[in-house]
Amino acid sequence: MINELQQLGKDALAELKDAKTLDQFQNIRTKYLGRKGLLTGILRNIAKVSDDEKPLFGKLCNELKNSLNANIDEALQKHADLKNQQDLFNDKIDVTLPGNAIKCGRIHPVIQVRQEICSIFASYGFSIVEGPEIELDYYNFEALNIPQDHPARDMQDTFYIEDNVVLRTHTSPVQVRIMEKIQPPLRILSPGKVYRRDSDVSHTPMFHQIEGLLVDQGVNFGDLKGILASFLKKIFGESTVLRFRPSFFPFTEPSAEVDIRCVMCGGKGCRVCGQSGWLEILGSGMVDPAVFKNVNYDSEKYSGFAFGLGLERIAMLKYGISDIRLFFENDIRFLKQF
Ligand code: PHE
Repeated sequence: MINELQQLGKDALAELKDAKTLDQFQNIRTKYLGRKGLLTGILRNIAKVSDDEKPLFGKLCNELKNSLNANIDEALQKHADLKNQQDLFNDKIDVTLPGNAIKCGRIHPVIQVRQEICSIFASYGFSIVEGPEIELDYYNFEALNIPQDHPARDMQDTFYIEDNVVLRTHTSPVQVRIMEKIQPPLRILSPGKVYRRDSDVSHTPMFHQIEGLLVDQGVNFGDLKGILASFLKKIFGESTVLRFRPSFFPFTEPSAEVDIRCVMCGGKGCRVCGQSGWLEILGSGMVDPAVFKNVNYDSEKYSGFAFGLGLERIAMLKYGISDIRLFFENDIRFLKQF
């Protein structure tokens, strides 16, 4: 019996050595130590062992049982460690690989131009102010000396909300709102959205303008020319050539449109400048006394100038963009170039 026991121990260890999978380990445990296992079977036959040998036999049985259990536990542990290592290896992350870049937003080209213009005028002492996009007819037209039935109303095809409420067609109403609130001297710049019923490669129903207004004692047309010339050279470069062309706006007198020599062809004439060699950049003029009257400014004492320009147009010329609609399509491939 003792021999049998020792043989059983050897067999079990040998099997354990060959075992590789979890199932195999469990099977060995059942085969030898289970309720119907081989070692359990031998133990049941203890009655057949002679009395002298019983203590030794019992002791050996226990030792074998314990050592088999310990061996199986150890093998299981090793197996688990190995599997863990393998899992780690399979899941490994190469921290030296480049990551997935997070797509980052950037400032829209129109807003970049707005920021640039605002900071130039801030350096001339202008404050930035804003006005409503839904505007009363009074501020958008009447107070700016554009009465009902005035042909100048047709210059800007208007979106009406109610009879006397419009989507503002320009930023000029902010001039009136500001002058109603504060007394001269004043220098303000007002960027914002404006709306006109218009849509083609160079017009969108919504676009951005910037309005400028300076009022003080003794302001003259030379001041207007000086500030606008300085500004346009900052935006388009020192060598920019300008011309002031007589024009008409109901709220300025005299009025002038400011052109720059075409930035595309240098003045030779091209598609962008319509072969004229010049690009219209902004509208301007000395504030009409009729407007001062509407805000109770004394036009004997004060004078001023105003100007307005379209931001998309400036951005198109600065960046060589031929279709204004590109600004509003939100195509990231277009926008990320600026
Ligand atoms: N408001 C005018 C326009 O939109 C531009 C302008 C502003 C002209 C101020 C003169 C003075 O066309």
